[in-house]
Amino acid sequence: MRRVSSKDDVSRVCAEVRADGCTIGLVPTMGALHDGHLALVRAARAQCDFVCVSVFVNPLQFGASEDLGSYPRDLDTDARLLAAEDVDLLFSPGPEEMYAPSHDVMIDPGALGGRWEGEQRPGHFAGVATVVVKLFGLVGPDRAFFGEKDYQQLKIVQKVVSDLDMGVAIEAVPTVRDADGLALSSRNAYLGADERRGALALSRALRAARQLSASGERDAHELEKAMRGIMDTAVDRVVVEYAAVVDAETLEPLAALDRSARAIIAAKVGSTRLIDNVALDAAGGRR
Ligand code: PAJ
Repeated sequence: MRRVSSKDDVSRVCAEVRADGCTIGLVPTMGALHDGHLALVRAARAQCDFVCVSVFVNPLQFGASEDLGSYPRDLDTDARLLAAEDVDLLFSPGPEEMYAPSHDVMIDPGALGGRWEGEQRPGHFAGVATVVVKLFGLVGPDRAFFGEKDYQQLKIVQKVVSDLDMGVAIEAVPTVRDADGLALSSRNAYLGADERRGALALSRALRAARQLSASGERDAHELEKAMRGIMDTAVDRVVVEYAAVVDAETLEPLAALDRSARAIIAAKVGSTRLIDNVALDAAGGRR
């Protein structure tokens, strides 16, 4: 595995690879890698000749009161994990390398960027969209891999690529969970033992919504009530920010499950903010 940290180097290596006729898969990450990230890497490895993983804690997507300073960083461990997955290139720039002092152009993520996470974290998705567009410009991937864990982010990246005619295929990878249901996240490292138990309320609530939809419940309000019921009986220190049933494409709230739908949740467990989501059964069939 080659390691580069400058924009010139990553562009040069990727241009050579492309000139050789190889397809390039890009997996953008912020590091502190876990099996969820590695699922994306494995999908890229299976689908592309050359796999580039970026590790960059992107300051543009963190609010002033968020955890940019304390976000977990462990580049040596990340590099070992990626080498073991047969990754070809690790790109890990510093913030000064990524953003010139004069940087001021931002990608507006459109209406999708203003909902849910965008409401709770103003500017977050503009920061995500901007760094993703920069990474696409530097690497020139044929395919880029994103997790369903961050469902709204996935939908925004798909929209950016489509609206801006970027010609990158966006591949969605299902959420990887611990055996007890908790969605893997770099931020799980912040949770104490009690908090980790409390955090299970998110996946439990989503599972309940999914089961209700699979057994034929079409009323989105009933699903939301069930989710909130489970969140509210969780150990204290779990504070729901939203628990909603939304259109799987536009992320608009739904009254009835009459189309492809997703249940989405954000909650604070102690001081750690967690998000999760699940596909709902819009057809009402049993699973
Ligand atoms: P990060 O949180 O490091 O996640 C990198 C990628 O891994 C994202 O596409 C995310 O959805 C995916 N991922 C995280 N946990 C996952 C899980 N449990 N199962 C499956 N996939 C999972 O998301 C970001 O970084 C940043 O916003 C980024 C896109 C890199 C832009 O800075």
